[in-house]
Amino acid sequence: MTLIVVVLLGFGCWKLLGMGENVGYSPVQPIPFSHKLHAGDNHIPCQYCHAGVERSRLAPIPALNVCMGCHAVVDNGAAPIKEVAAAYAALKPIEFVRVYDLPQFVYFQHRWHIAAGITCQTCHGQVQNMDQVSQVTQWTMAECLNCHRNDNLLPGPGDNGYHRDPATFHDRPANAPQDCNVCHN
Ligand code: HEC
Ligand code: HEC
Ligand code: HEC
Ligand code: HEC
Ligand code: HEC
Repeated sequence: MTLIVVVLLGFGCWKLLGMGENVGYSPVQPIPFSHKLHAGDNHIPCQYCHAGVERSRLAPIPALNVCMGCHAVVDNGAAPIKEVAAAYAALKPIEFVRVYDLPQFVYFQHRWHIAAGITCQTCHGQVQNMDQVSQVTQWTMAECLNCHRNDNLLPGPGDNGYHRDPATFHDRPANAPQDCNVCHN
């Protein structure tokens, strides 16, 4: 009961603050960083930059040393590359604007989803075709539960194709959770 009240209050404040954006939300970033150019045209794997997402709750936004790993050499003289190099030299991080942001009262971890073989594109769309990242999914509770309800992670009836390696993940439950306190704790 307390949980639900806290959740509802939290939800109210969150709506009042106008946080939580919608499908199509695509903020202009401080640097015109293009996923199409990097992940699309140049085939740089998502996890090269979002390293460790399979082990963490969050998918890390790369620090400037990751950018400079290439751009110390890949320098076509364009202004944004000079900006990245200058920020790096000044030890000043670039403050990228969040695109996806769940309300505080929802708990989400990337790692179990990656382990179940769900691709980044299932949840974030064809990011490798986007010059500027745009939100493709409105993460309502129903949207999360649509997948969790239809999920049988073991081959057999109800199998939706998301599989874990049973040897590595033998201690995990057979289905994606639907208990309130798994997502709200
Ligand atoms: C060369 C590095 C690099 C690669 C490769 C890369 N990303 Fe990113 N990603 C970034 C940076 C920097 C940001 C923050 C700026 C922005 O939102 O565009 C970001 C932001 C994002 C966001 C938005 C995060 C938010 O604010 O909510 C998503 C989603 C994302 N990346 C998914 C992907 C996927 C999926 C791939 C592979 C198809 C990928 N990225 C490949 C560097 C990279
Ligand atoms: C099951 C759906 C799902 C999958 C699969 C998924 N994401 Fe996410 N991602 C989300 C949600 C939901 C958020 C917002 C999390 C929050 O606000 O706490 C998010 C947030 C992000 C962010 C912003 C930083 C953060 O962690 O909040 C980045 C970057 C990102 N995802 C990249 C990726 C990449 C790269 C992959 C593939 C390796 C991936 N995501 C796979 C649902 C997913
Ligand atoms: C694995 C190598 C690699 C990494 C890592 C990388 N880039 Fe790039 N980046 C490239 C390549 C290749 C190009 C295309 C250069 C060209 O076409 O001349 C490029 C182009 C760019 C451009 C476009 C420049 C123009 O022509 O306008 C920007 C801006 C940029 N990168 C920023 C970043 C940022 C910010 C990061 C870190 C989040 C990053 N890059 C990480 C390889 C990389
Ligand atoms: C495309 C399918 C899919 C979507 C969409 C999805 N999930 Fe999941 N989720 C799974 C699967 C599969 C598991 C089970 C992974 C396991 O137990 O190894 C899981 C597990 C979880 C867990 C339990 C992980 C743990 O710590 O034990 C939480 C919490 C969770 N999801 C939250 C969310 C939230 C919140 C959203 C919406 C923002 C969401 N999920 C969207 C498929 C999905
Ligand atoms: C798979 C993850 C998940 C599970 C399980 C889950 N929720 Fe949620 N819940 C969410 C997400 C995500 C939101 C945020 C919705 C939004 O931003 O619109 C949410 C929002 C809420 C809200 C705020 C109002 C609303 O409807 O958006 C309440 C209240 C709530 N949940 C209660 C519950 C209760 C009670 C249960 C158990 C019967 C439950 N939740 C189970 C993910 C989950």
